[in-house]
Amino acid sequence: MGKGFYISKAVGIVGVILGAGALATIIALSVVYSQEKAKNNADPSPTDGGTTSSPTTSSPTTPAPSNNPWDKYRLPTSLMPESYNVSLQPRLTPVNGTEFYIFTGESTVEFVCVEETDLILIHSHKLNYSQFENGQPAMLVSLDTAVEAPSIKSTQMQTVTQYLVIHLNGKLVKGQRYRLYTIFTGELADDLGGFYRSVFDEDGVTKVVATTQMQPTHARKAFPCFDEPAMKAVFNITLIHDIGTVALSNGEEKESSQISVGDKMMQRTVFEPTLKMSTYLLAFIVSDFASISNISDNVSIRIFARKTAIAAGQGQYALDITGPILNFFEQYYNYKYPLPKSDQVALPDFNAGAMENWGLITYRETALLYDEAFSSNSNRERIATIIAHELAHMWFGNLVTLRWWNDLWLNEGFASYVEYLGADKAEPTWNVKDLIVLSDVHRVFAVDALTSSHPLSSKEEDVQTPAQISELFDAISYSKGAAVLRMLSDFLTEDVFTKGLQTYLAEFAFGTAVYTDLWSHLDEAARLNETELPAPVPDIMNTWVLQMGFPVITINTTAGHVSQQHFLLDPNSNVTAVSPYNYEWIVPIKWMKTGVIQKPEWLETKSATINAMKVTADDWVLANLNVVGYYRVNYDQGNWDRLLRALNTNHMDIPVINRAQLVDDAFNLARAQIIPTVLALSVTKYLYRRQIICPGNRPSTTWTSSI
Ligand code: BES
Ligand code: ZN
Repeated sequence: MGKGFYISKAVGIVGVILGAGALATIIALSVVYSQEKAKNNADPSPTDGGTTSSPTTSSPTTPAPSNNPWDKYRLPTSLMPESYNVSLQPRLTPVNGTEFYIFTGESTVEFVCVEETDLILIHSHKLNYSQFENGQPAMLVSLDTAVEAPSIKSTQMQTVTQYLVIHLNGKLVKGQRYRLYTIFTGELADDLGGFYRSVFDEDGVTKVVATTQMQPTHARKAFPCFDEPAMKAVFNITLIHDIGTVALSNGEEKESSQISVGDKMMQRTVFEPTLKMSTYLLAFIVSDFASISNISDNVSIRIFARKTAIAAGQGQYALDITGPILNFFEQYYNYKYPLPKSDQVALPDFNAGAMENWGLITYRETALLYDEAFSSNSNRERIATIIAHELAHMWFGNLVTLRWWNDLWLNEGFASYVEYLGADKAEPTWNVKDLIVLSDVHRVFAVDALTSSHPLSSKEEDVQTPAQISELFDAISYSKGAAVLRMLSDFLTEDVFTKGLQTYLAEFAFGTAVYTDLWSHLDEAARLNETELPAPVPDIMNTWVLQMGFPVITINTTAGHVSQQHFLLDPNSNVTAVSPYNYEWIVPIKWMKTGVIQKPEWLETKSATINAMKVTADDWVLANLNVVGYYRVNYDQGNWDRLLRALNTNHMDIPVINRAQLVDDAFNLARAQIIPTVLALSVTKYLYRRQIICPGNRPSTTWTSSI
């Protein structure tokens, strides 16, 4: 409060360097760049494990085992970033006489010292720094008149842990704010990570786009930053780009002017400061793309793509559905879309399907562009679900961010569940919500029934390196995450689920959370609603989240006996992983008797008697209605026989998803040698009825729903 900004001599020097030295810097950086290129491209090798060296002279040698903070992958908590000013200039033509593309940048990060320290660790990967007058690649100033910033003793690049390490001659003072300045250059490589280049041909011309992919740990490849999701800050981004190209970032364009850079006039686009956000959600793009736009509820919506794609109308479908989906999520989360704009960009070269950068979502072209004449129905369906998935992240993931990557499953699992709800709002006639069973539940059943599977949740300390983080983006995180959240939403009811979700978002907006925070909010919502549950939400969910696999529920309808068993596709496989719940789950069972829906039951133990499931004569039991439960079901032979009879006579008594599920469960149970293959084959017999009921060329939606 009331603190004046102290402009030190150092700041003055930097000002001079940034201004008059800009041209010299660029030329020097190109040279440095080529010299450094070979070094950068070498496999990341450890540096000297502690001894200091200048960034241009550090030599990769084997480290002695060390406990130095710069040898740990996680940042210390001594410094917290508050804001960044980052100015980047991507070069869309190669460095003279080479085939390398580069970008140059300047960055100022303002941070608070939370614990006294004489060390600054900031992530930096494959960046080369130009040196200031004092021979160091970074400059530090204090923002408080009362405190002078300690000078920099030495710096080193720690290539394995991807840090710029700055040793200081004195301590940073707890509670004080400081600024760190750097000028750097990096390669604008075609490697799909960090600030990278995408190349395409249009109208006989080869064009280059500069774009980004920061998640999970590539922001450090674009500029030095505290590159962990909990290190949220405000980002002031400026892009220097060729006149005639379009520059985009997370914020809206604040000002655009022409400046001279060396002997060339360039466009300088300054963006509005972002909201407080994580580094992995940043994005910058320079391209010659065209766009189409509309305004929905005061939010500016734009779709960018290659000029020819936009001219062919391929962005129109995405533009049409974005407003309604945003609107749906605003209601679902009970939280207004927090940004003034939503840009979505189709990129010719893109690693994932799409990326939820806040306000500037990037896609591979096939995930955003739809052409009436050439695209298929499944293309259209993928576009609707992927847009919904990324828009869902604008709140769940971006507004409230999981503190560390070990909880990635909740971020991706959640978006993978609600993408169907969002797409359903945009395309209400498609029954798109049914597809989660095929695309996620079945997809992940196949891998989660192997002994090589793993629990959804990982321990924070087990996820350290970039490689360990990347490994988490798997079918378990996405599809099992989606499946168990859908089960949770179903047994709580959507009303209770959304209430808990809404209070969770309200509490942690612009901050971070852990997965148990969501459980607490859902549990509280269930308590307020007086929902009857066999155990608190965290206890129920732990059995699904903390142990791998899923059960097969066996229902003996003669005795009314229900039991569970870890379902393994290979009956001879040995489970070596120990489970805290001994491979037992708290299982919600929605079921019907002879076509009539019954009161839901729970199986909380290995086996139990559920009298209501004891049936006689011609009655049949069908459990796991609409496959909302993350498990398979087996029955006694008599019940299988009666189910088969129902399928062959009144198959419409059995919900369409369950008709498919009976086939899928039966074949998987047969494969696991739990039921005879003959029984599995006999479940398919009813399928001949499809021909009787749906002769000719009926529309595919009618056709499938009556199988
Ligand atoms: N955050 C991811 C994109 C991502 C994946 C970044 C892996 C870095 C590593 C994004 O939200 C996502 O999940 N995209 C999916 C599409 C979705 C519909 C399942 C993808 O890219 O496949
Ligand atoms: Zn996602």
